[in-house]
Amino acid sequence: EKDGYDYFMLKEIAEQPKAVADTLLGRIDGSGVLSLDEVRISEEVLREVDKVVIVACGTAYHAGMIAKYAIEHWTRIPCETELASEFRYRDPILDRRTLVIAISQSGETMDTLMALRHAREQGAKVLAICNTNGSTIPRESDAVLYTHAGPEVAVASTKAFLTQLVACYLVALYLAQVRGNKWGDEIRDVVRELAAIGDQVRQVLGTMEPVRELARGLADKNTVLFLGRHVGYPVALEGALKLKELAYMHAEGFAAGELKHGPIALIEDDVPVVVVVPSPRGRSVLHDKIVSNIQEIRARGARTIVIAEEGDEAVVPYADHLVRIPRTPVLLQPMVSAVPLQVFACELATARGNEVDQPRNLAKSVTVE
Ligand code: F6R
Repeated sequence: EKDGYDYFMLKEIAEQPKAVADTLLGRIDGSGVLSLDEVRISEEVLREVDKVVIVACGTAYHAGMIAKYAIEHWTRIPCETELASEFRYRDPILDRRTLVIAISQSGETMDTLMALRHAREQGAKVLAICNTNGSTIPRESDAVLYTHAGPEVAVASTKAFLTQLVACYLVALYLAQVRGNKWGDEIRDVVRELAAIGDQVRQVLGTMEPVRELARGLADKNTVLFLGRHVGYPVALEGALKLKELAYMHAEGFAAGELKHGPIALIEDDVPVVVVVPSPRGRSVLHDKIVSNIQEIRARGARTIVIAEEGDEAVVPYADHLVRIPRTPVLLQPMVSAVPLQVFACELATARGNEVDQPRNLAKSVTVE
């Protein structure tokens, strides 16, 4: 059932273009209009929403962090993303006009379930984004948008993450459509580019051999750091999480702008630092700032592993290793930049002799708080 792959994780990484396409299937019509009839929250209620709160754990939380950028940009509704395990313990402000989005691959994560129960008790509407039909989280929610990743067997989440992003973008674009705000050329373009993203993921998958080789060469390191900005920041966190769970290495993700506020003290000779570079188009100020960060850490001895868009030449002089990703709209970049980080972690785990599909101390679904 591993279809010739050594690990389920490898198979699931390879399945991502299909998982993404399946999650889009039937949800966008030929003229770029979204139809999410399955989300049985009336358009009237969605038009009244004045706050979105996303709750999730682990990898799903990282998808939620990325979704915040998309929801606020496209809908102008304030959105916060919170760890499900923290949420109900701080007496969050919720009412009937709050839309809570609970993201969970398994649909059984107790922390997320308790967060959504708390939200519903306060009168908020809860939309689940879930990969498991009929699981507890969608059953207890007001509505559900299923991701169609297919069964995810490896403990480390990969294809579920990409489909969670797709589902979040669909919700964000649908909210924008229903509310009629900012519904213009940009959103139509994004809908079109979202439909093309599966092919771009396939393209990335076809260029991963140098990433594998690089990972094998780092097998005796103790620490790997990850930097990102904007939507690349949660991607950095996700890259670090994958490496912790699979390679059992000390891995930390930082917002690149925070570097000078502390983490730069960690930079020493030959420490590998993976940098997720924002597009030089779009928010180009951020791009330039991160290029300076790469220069700074390299001057202090870091071994820089740079993930940057095709055509981004500014990073070339400072990249010890350069991983190219295709051009995408700014907000969609995590769909392609996360993939090399998955491959990197999987290969490092293999090189260190770890059990890739069943990392120590972890379970696929965490049904205790
Ligand atoms: C990371 C991972 C975990 C899960 C988290 C949430 O690779 O697998 O961090 O993402 O436990 O699980 P779900 O999505 O099932 O609620």
